[in-house]
Amino acid sequence: MKRIHLLIAFLLFVNLAPLRADEGMWLPALISQRIGDMQQNGFRLTAEDIYSVNQASLKDAVLLFGGGCTGELVSDEGLLLTNHHCGYSYIQRHSSVEHDYLRDGFWAMSKAEELPNKGLTVSFLERMEDVTGIILKGYESSMSEAQRDTLIRENRDKLIKQVTQAGKGLSARVEALYYGNQYFLFVYKVYRDVRLVGAPPSSIGKFGGETDNWMWPRHTGDFSIFRIYADKDNEPADYSPDNVPYRPKRFFRISRAGVNAGDFTFVYGCPGSTKEYVTAEEVRYVGEVSDPQKIALRTQRLDIQKKYMMQSQAVRIQYSSKFASVANAWKKWQGESGGIKRLGTVAAKKAYEARFKEWAKGTRYDGLVERLDSLYALRNPYYLASEYNTETVRAVELLSFAANVQSRLRADRPVEDLAESFFKDYYQPIDEEIFVAMLQAFDEHMSDTFKPAYFKEQLAAHGSLAAWRDEIFAQSLFTDKAKVVALTPADADRIAADPALQLADAFATWFAGDIRPVVQRLNGEINLAYRDYMRGQMEFEPDKIFYPDANLTLRVAYGHVEGYSPADGIDYRPVSTLKGIMEKDNPDIFDYNIPQTLRDVYAEGGHDKQPVCFLATNHTSGGNSGSPVINADGDLIGINFDRVWEGTMSDIVFDPEYCRNISLDIRYLLFIVDKIGHAAYLFDEMCFAD
Ligand code: ARG
Ligand code: ASP
Repeated sequence: MKRIHLLIAFLLFVNLAPLRADEGMWLPALISQRIGDMQQNGFRLTAEDIYSVNQASLKDAVLLFGGGCTGELVSDEGLLLTNHHCGYSYIQRHSSVEHDYLRDGFWAMSKAEELPNKGLTVSFLERMEDVTGIILKGYESSMSEAQRDTLIRENRDKLIKQVTQAGKGLSARVEALYYGNQYFLFVYKVYRDVRLVGAPPSSIGKFGGETDNWMWPRHTGDFSIFRIYADKDNEPADYSPDNVPYRPKRFFRISRAGVNAGDFTFVYGCPGSTKEYVTAEEVRYVGEVSDPQKIALRTQRLDIQKKYMMQSQAVRIQYSSKFASVANAWKKWQGESGGIKRLGTVAAKKAYEARFKEWAKGTRYDGLVERLDSLYALRNPYYLASEYNTETVRAVELLSFAANVQSRLRADRPVEDLAESFFKDYYQPIDEEIFVAMLQAFDEHMSDTFKPAYFKEQLAAHGSLAAWRDEIFAQSLFTDKAKVVALTPADADRIAADPALQLADAFATWFAGDIRPVVQRLNGEINLAYRDYMRGQMEFEPDKIFYPDANLTLRVAYGHVEGYSPADGIDYRPVSTLKGIMEKDNPDIFDYNIPQTLRDVYAEGGHDKQPVCFLATNHTSGGNSGSPVINADGDLIGINFDRVWEGTMSDIVFDPEYCRNISLDIRYLLFIVDKIGHAAYLFDEMCFAD
């Protein structure tokens, strides 16, 4: 009996062990170090298939979309998929009352109908390589940090100049990895004629809105479709009607076979920023100070916005995008601080540091953690002040607007368009309430030495924030569109005397003089200490594999399809279906009001099992939105768009129990393109694996 138990335990271990290797965002050029593990987990391709400089590889089908999302190619005519929320601002710019593409969706029925997008670029990684030797050439240990910086900058600029001259549309960046222990060159080819091909109505592409954001079960059809154009030589070019569809080196084949729990998944994209190797003190600051305070501030701000949004449809439209961006990080921070607490990360890191300190005695790493602790102790009050500046002062729309108008006029530039877009989405009662609530919070939470003198004097003189608000909003010219539009550079004195501008100015001067320089100096020193601490951690644990923190460069994250248990008694399955959309559908709830066309399609019957989204264990971050999700054969099975909020501490600490990425099932995209967009002609240029 006992033997059987042992055998079962052994088999379970053998089966489960490889499934646990989900953490990590790996550099494609070094993927040969991980390929064995990937293959053990089910992947059937080679390292060269993922990344190669000698032949077309999967990396040639992945791109950085704009400045913060990922996209992938699915045809030999430059057809590109990304998220709806990544294409959102471009879709919005093409929208008007007559053509509300955000509300109704957009589908080009031929290439001639595709819409150009000024300013939108996509970047393909041509190659990446370790250039530490080149970047540090000439470095001597006797050099000061400033000398080292100068040397690095010179070497970097020379290298970038050299590599970008080699071809059209090339751009290059040198990124410090592991806090400057290693430098990598990234060479990109940047295409600048990218056109909108299709987008579902927001009630599909943003289905669930803020209510479902960062949550499971999820039913968001978060995709949009673009096409890259090139000149006749397939090179990058500005928009021109003469441009032709880009012919990629490689594009993804699409798999319609679907996903099952346990299936291998691979997310290939550009995560923006993580900090997995920081000290307990930094984690404590994020989880116990920064996140909770920012959450509380944003809760107040969102409550105020929501109150007015519920009273008026016009206000709801005006503030929906502002609300979304405030709510997005607000929800993420709740998961992050909760996750850090649940995992006991501060205590775990402290225990690790105790062992590290013991080991470091007498080495060059001796005293490093202590040094970081004391740097944080100096920095954190200033850093918190800077976070308060962002979350309170800058949350008052009138103050930011006044400062923007002033700087426009100083630069002798017109302010009309600025005023136009500001007032289009401005509702003064919201801003007035936010003014009082946020400056109240600033006053209560900042110690006296951290407040601008002007703020203290004026608040005392007015007796209360409410009285001061009444005066500012009654007297400021910046609440009146006609007055703002009439301003010219000759009005400089009148502008400078405006009460809103005076307050904005007082805060800006305080921040630029008293806060920012201290934060920058101390952050510089902290980063420097991390350069050693990172190396120290690697020497301390020579068998551990350290992946570099994310920095918006291309990474490989692999895992598998799996649900999770968010709380005792609840098990989430990893796949959602159209049936769930119908269950949520409610014309009275904005976030859940699907288009009638989708109801009609559903009524045809037979679509209950239509897959919509799935969960997997890939280690992703902000920037991975739009990333291709690939199966064991390298075929496209989904588009990554979110994580579950209980796992958002993965930017600091990864927990295989809770960290899940959320992807759109590619079959839902095909379903919507066909049934709602009636644009099945796009399938002709796609390539299907099955
Ligand atoms: N949470 C996702 C991300 O961090 C999606 C954000 C856009 N969607 C939204 N409902 N705000 O970017
Ligand atoms: N939604 C995020 C993005 O836009 C992805 C994430 O944070 O998981 O990149």
